[in-house]
Amino acid sequence: MSTRTIRDLPLEGRRVFLRVDFNVPIKNGVVGDDTRMRESLPTIRHALDAGARAVILASHLGRPKGTPNPEMSLRPVAARLGELLGAAVAFAPDCVGPEAERLVREAPRGGVVLLENLRFHPEEEKNDPAFAQALASLADVYVNDAFGAAHRAHASVDAIVRALPEAGAGLLMEKELRYLGEALANPDRPFVAVLGGAKVSDKIEVIENLVPRVDRLLIGGAMAYTFFKAIGKPVGRSLVEDDKLEAAREIIARARAGGATPASPLLLLPVDHVVAERPEAGVPTETLETDDPAIGDRMGLDIGPQTQAVYADVLRDAQTVVWNGPMGVFEIDAFAAGTIAVARAVAAVRGTTIVGGGDSIAAVRKAGVADRITHVSTGGGASLEFLAGRTLAGVAVLPGRT
Ligand code: 3PG
Repeated sequence: MSTRTIRDLPLEGRRVFLRVDFNVPIKNGVVGDDTRMRESLPTIRHALDAGARAVILASHLGRPKGTPNPEMSLRPVAARLGELLGAAVAFAPDCVGPEAERLVREAPRGGVVLLENLRFHPEEEKNDPAFAQALASLADVYVNDAFGAAHRAHASVDAIVRALPEAGAGLLMEKELRYLGEALANPDRPFVAVLGGAKVSDKIEVIENLVPRVDRLLIGGAMAYTFFKAIGKPVGRSLVEDDKLEAAREIIARARAGGATPASPLLLLPVDHVVAERPEAGVPTETLETDDPAIGDRMGLDIGPQTQAVYADVLRDAQTVVWNGPMGVFEIDAFAAGTIAVARAVAAVRGTTIVGGGDSIAAVRKAGVADRITHVSTGGGASLEFLAGRTLAGVAVLPGRT
């Protein structure tokens, strides 16, 4: 990786501004899944071990739209972080201003301060230089470990680097970029991508960027129905994006042109599916082949057992796998089997496996195989933008290695 990292920065006796993505679920004032916090612990510990005078952590939480909202306060995160670090974490009730400055100034050597939600200030999302300067004035060095927010050109991600140019990537950011970057640039083959989820519109750029790179692309979830409609298959009342039919046709044509053979097509769509009146627990379901008009006016809500077997077969030989998006409405048990089967098949791969997106991550957890995935990405939107071939704003702005 050519971006400068925290390892390249002198930290002894210095105040480190560490942008993290602690956008974690909070219920009744208690942090739920704290994976994102755990994943940044190595970077925090690195800074402390390197003799940082203070580590100032900053994050967004939710989308408070520029106004303070107690439900989106990071205070519960400070408590959880203290437990994870086994050290005191001071909490600044505003991310800029005299109280934050005082807490940093009075922090003991090696102290940790967590700032309140950056998005309580509208200037954060506006990438405001004066706000970035106010954040930067708290520290001597800037480190970005917030891979999940790296696609946002916000003040604490982008403008701050112009105010605090002694900057680098954190260890989590470095790890995310390494796994995703190597999959795109130099994958061990066969390279198989599995894409699912509701909307093809969310993934068109990803598919376009992956088609020339992968050996196989397996499609599932509601987005398959836009492809089906594009090629004249019966879709009933399944979710279809009519304005994306042309894009779906183009992708199919491009995948065919890519040197694949009918026996070994690049793009695979489900051959059977589980259909029902509506996505609801307890409704009667039926498994049909995907070209069977008996779907009537029902909806396709999961891939069927034949598709599970075909996809597992393709995955068996894979050396690199990228998976983003569920194969069906997996929150409802009746439509979860396809996603769980894919989670197990991905976990059984002997090569490198990368899973991104909240639903796929929840699925590998539900299937009990998360610890068998090589890399579970902490970035939803960020990992999709990366896979789409876009440059992430928060990475582009960091200085390179000299
Ligand atoms: C995420 O949860 O994907 C990141 O924290 C980014 O959040 P955002 O989509 O609200 O910018």
